[in-house]
Amino acid sequence: MPGDKSITHRALIFSALTTGKSRITGALGALDCLSTVSCLRRLGLTIEPAEGGGGWRKITTSGRLDLVVNSKGPRHLDFRESTKSGPLLLDAGNSGTTMRIMSGLLAGLPGNFALSGDDSLSKRDMRRVLDSLTATGATVTYRRSEGRAPFIVGGGELKGGHFDLPMASAQVETALLVAGLLAKGKTTVKTPAKVRDHTLKAFLHLGIPFHNEGLTTSVEPLTLEIAAKDFTVPGDISSAAFFLVAAAIMPGSSLVIPAVGTNTGRGLVVEVLRRMGATISYSNERLVNFEPVCDIHVNAPAELTATDVAASEVPLGIDELPVLALAFAMARGKSKVSGAAELKEKESNRLTAICKNLSNQGVKVEELADGFVVEGAPELAGGGAWATEGDHRLAMTGLIAQLVAKKPLQLGDVSCVDISYPGFEADLAVLVSQ
Ligand code: S3P
Repeated sequence: MPGDKSITHRALIFSALTTGKSRITGALGALDCLSTVSCLRRLGLTIEPAEGGGGWRKITTSGRLDLVVNSKGPRHLDFRESTKSGPLLLDAGNSGTTMRIMSGLLAGLPGNFALSGDDSLSKRDMRRVLDSLTATGATVTYRRSEGRAPFIVGGGELKGGHFDLPMASAQVETALLVAGLLAKGKTTVKTPAKVRDHTLKAFLHLGIPFHNEGLTTSVEPLTLEIAAKDFTVPGDISSAAFFLVAAAIMPGSSLVIPAVGTNTGRGLVVEVLRRMGATISYSNERLVNFEPVCDIHVNAPAELTATDVAASEVPLGIDELPVLALAFAMARGKSKVSGAAELKEKESNRLTAICKNLSNQGVKVEELADGFVVEGAPELAGGGAWATEGDHRLAMTGLIAQLVAKKPLQLGDVSCVDISYPGFEADLAVLVSQ
């Protein structure tokens, strides 16, 4: 699998908090993470492909890349003088994770920074992170539309504070913790439900102090110099999810996916496919930079059965719900997903898009205000339009649906798979030919 997207973003961005040289092995070499690379380079960090790591050319042929990062440490990230006559421009491309976590870092740095993104990212909600950053002392000016990119962050004078987040977002939690490390006082962040804890695992690995109890995490201002440390990035469970579902919906399939990260905050896809009847087991279980990693074995059942996804489970697999919806469409019975309004806030309105794409293929599906109900059938008729809306996860779900549809789908542009998984179509072709 390509390197984990969430962990790659964090290994890169947290290197700005450290001093020295580090190697990130198996980083995700896809467009979203390259947006993070380009933002950090604008801040003066040196990031280059490692020698013998295949270089930047690997990006178009594989999702894995070895990088060497050099950072002088946060004290050297002072942009007061250089941004007096205008902000430093940073482009987050299509990447919400880049824009949100970078906002936390920039809010903690002296200077002015302008963050922009592509059309899709410019439609996404940034208030969820910027309102809290404003409350802790950052100044935020929206350039076009309130709550959306492009915007300017003036940072460097943060107080810290207590933040009770209304949404279970690991991105927002991470942005506030990073800002907290650069603030003058203590910062506490509470999420309403469990989310992926890659940030805390990376802090442990780097020796960044924090205190965590259940859903609440606090950090004190970083006074120590944190030495840079190498990271090894596990395979991305969100990318593996497409193959796990493909194997589960094609009777007779048997697949092993090596070296995939199985952070408990990302556990929904495996849990749901097991409930539906797929046999999934782990081997070679180990910890890599405190992250659980293993080889995942999946065997298709003769028939999948429907299951419900409760609101409390949704944050554990929000990115996997588009492809899980396809598994629901191929299962016996009705599956209901509740408490998933966050699907509307992703690279596209995934809630509406999933329902429309499946319905166009003859699936009985009902869109709810915060979820959907799918009535499964053992066959997917296909033949209808499958819009991708420039959204990588819709495109990859469409490519998997194509494998089982009776009539070919009218599939939209799938070039957006490069956002998280360059080479996805080639890998799928190899697998299907076996
Ligand atoms: C991510 C968190 C999730 C997820 C995104 C990556 C992260 O977003 O959808 O793809 O790396 O922290 P939210 O924090 O908005 O739930």
